[in-house]
Parts: sequence; C-alpha cells; structure tokens
Amino acid sequence: MKIFLDTANLDELRTGAAWGIVDGVTTNPTLIAREGKPIEEQIARICEIVNGDISAEVVATDFEGMVREGKALAKIHPNVVVKLPLIRDGIRACKALSGDGIRTNVTLCFTPAQALLAAKAGAYIVSPFVGRLDDIGQTGMDLIRSIMVIYENYGFSTQVLAASLRSPLHVVEAAEAGAHIATMPFKTLDQLFNHPLTDKGLEQFLKDHARTFSEAGAVR
Ligand code: E4P
Repeated sequence: MKIFLDTANLDELRTGAAWGIVDGVTTNPTLIAREGKPIEEQIARICEIVNGDISAEVVATDFEGMVREGKALAKIHPNVVVKLPLIRDGIRACKALSGDGIRTNVTLCFTPAQALLAAKAGAYIVSPFVGRLDDIGQTGMDLIRSIMVIYENYGFSTQVLAASLRSPLHVVEAAEAGAHIATMPFKTLDQLFNHPLTDKGLEQFLKDHARTFSEAGAVR
C-alpha cells in the first residue's frame, strides 16, 4: 500500500519525505487555503519535495471550468494528478481529461455506486472518504471494502485511495481491505511509529550497553 500525506504544509512534507516512506501527496482547497499561497505556487513547491503523485484540486464546478483548470494544474509538473469532485460535470471532466492523457483523482466519493462511475470515466484514482462517513454514524471502512470487491470483479485499473483517515487503526484497516493508497494527515503518519514497548525496550538496550561498555571507556 502506498502512503500519501494529506497536507499542503511544506514543513510536514519535508519531514515525511526525509523518513523515506511518503509515496505521494493529496491536497484539497481547504488544505491549500490553510497555507495562504496560490495553488500553482504551493503545488510547484510540493512537487520539489515529494517525488510521487501530487493531487491538486479544481475549484470550478462546471465542465468547461474543470477541464480548463485541470489542464492548467497538469502543466505545473508531470507528477500532478487533477482532483475532481464526484458530481455530474466532474465525471464528465474526468472522462475528457483522462482521454487527453491527464491523470485524475475523483474525490468526495461516499458510495460504491459513485466509485463505479469514477472507474467507468477512467479515473486514475478514486478517493472514498472514511472518516467523514464515521462522523455521520456509518462504518466508513465498509465503503473501501465494497469498492475493492467491485473493482476486482471487473478488473478496473482505478486505484482506491482511502481518504479522510484519522487514526493508525484506520490506516491498518485500509491496508487489510487492500486499498492501493492511504492518505493521512501528518499527525496520523507520525502516530504510526509509536509503541510504548519500543521506547521502553530501546531505553533498556541503551542502559545495558552503557553499563557494560561506556564505563570501561569503549564505544562498543
Ligand atoms: C483526501 O484527499 C482529502 O483531502 C482528505 O482525506 C479529507 O480528510 P478530512 O475528512 O479529514 O478533511
């Protein structure tokens, strides 16, 4: 499973990229607005930090506007994937941009039926939102499981990107469900490292090492 960071913050991206485990980035208009820079500028800087698929979302909601914005975003860098909302014109724009060889990420997917439409329109990625379904009392991860079955039934090549993940458990469940990609906030990626027994075990190893060797003045 590929790991993407769901952020437009350059410091977070630099830290994640240095760990060597970040395969790509997702952004959305909220995340871009949070950084206070125009989308073209912010996406170009992100592309310099992470070498992988970088999703950049259109804000137009009509077909012509989405295609126009999508083409402009795709010109920023070869790694840009154009993110389109799962509405009628978004699906139409997905078909048109995919036909022009531009890779798309169809976002705001909340049902298996919507995911079927994204695959039919040639989406490179579909983004089902797990956490936002959990927020309204549904089991968001069931959506990922259902889409995986449908895509496997018909051999669709669209990659399933588990989005709106909010915890390490979400990430593990997405992996168990076979999602191709999991995107997560920096905080969640950071939490994946943690276990108290790792910290306790390391502390003990270092204590034992120091007791035996440092006192004798040797490093090893
Ligand atoms: C995915 O591409 C979205 O940007 C993101 O995962 C949304 O997450 P949220 O529901 O936590 O805002």
